[in-house]
Amino acid sequence: MSLGSHTAVLLERAVEELKVRADGLYVDCTFGRGGHSRLILSRLGNRGRLIALDRDPDAVSAGEMIDDERFTMLHGAFGRLAALLRQAGVERADGILLDLGVSSPQLDDPARGFSFRFDAPLDMRMDTRGGFTAAQWLASAPESEIREVIRNYGEERFAKQIAAAIVAARARGPVGTTRQLAAIVAEAVPTREPRQDPATRTFQAIRIHVNQELEELSLALPQCIDLLVPGGRLVAISFHSLEDRIVKRILRLQATADPLPRRLPVKARDIAPPRLKLIGRAQRATPSEIAANPRARSAVMRVAERTGDAQYADARGAP
Ligand SMILES: C[S@@+](CC[C@H](N)C(=O)[O-])C[C@H]1O[C@@H](n2cnc3c(N)ncnc32)[C@H](O)[C@@H]1O
Repeated sequence: MSLGSHTAVLLERAVEELKVRADGLYVDCTFGRGGHSRLILSRLGNRGRLIALDRDPDAVSAGEMIDDERFTMLHGAFGRLAALLRQAGVERADGILLDLGVSSPQLDDPARGFSFRFDAPLDMRMDTRGGFTAAQWLASAPESEIREVIRNYGEERFAKQIAAAIVAARARGPVGTTRQLAAIVAEAVPTREPRQDPATRTFQAIRIHVNQELEELSLALPQCIDLLVPGGRLVAISFHSLEDRIVKRILRLQATADPLPRRLPVKARDIAPPRLKLIGRAQRATPSEIAANPRARSAVMRVAERTGDAQYADARGAP
């Protein structure tokens, strides 16, 4: 079985920002095909550890081929990060990486139904063990819900027309394949964006909804912050403005101290200090990386460091 390959975006810089310590414990929440994981492993010594997870069974199969006792591959969604790590006996981490979105093998495998480049059942689930497929959702969702998903997650101007066209089409028979959906969208969209298929935005929106990608991210970030030891770093790479907005908002909020209440006898030392320190500004791929890997064009990387008590300074606990 070929599991495909994925060119990792911001590979060196993301791992550099994790400030990998040879004996630290790191978590790669989005293994994909392991580009970042392999580089992290190469920076670890004998006592270091890397836990990777992915919700996609094919990614997990690819990870299970890594024969290295410092490495553990877990199957699950990062929205349940703390519980998954706890089951693996891990309570703290020296660094956590999130490289969001879809992998190239997901897009390139016709059977997964992510892409209109191939005709295939309209699936789009990253985790094929459960949940609803795109076809199942389109068969029963109210028109207003389809419209809002396409408008909000696809930032599609013609969401209203597309949702109406899908609902009209499904009254004639199931919308069950990628090509069927692409044809319905092409028919409903009155203008074309240069160098972009009219169905691109709709496919992206439905994928984000089917996989609950923004909800997963909002659940994961606070857990990452809780899990990090003081000095531990969180590195998050987003590919969609809505993802980056969530990362930016949560990191900023956690990097801001509560204001001192006015007219109350509270001193600054009684107020909880911020739990995070932002490291630098948002980083983007260089023009040469974008030329070599067009996926890098929309990548935005943010880095933050856990502040706080040095009491927990070692994620592996007492030796
Ligand atoms: C951009 S790829 C990661 C690529 C990886 N860094 C590499 O170098 O190969 C994103 C991966 O995250 C996984 N993923 C997306 N959302 C997830 C979630 N909520 N929980 C776990 N894995 C998720 C996808 O299945 C996909 O394999």
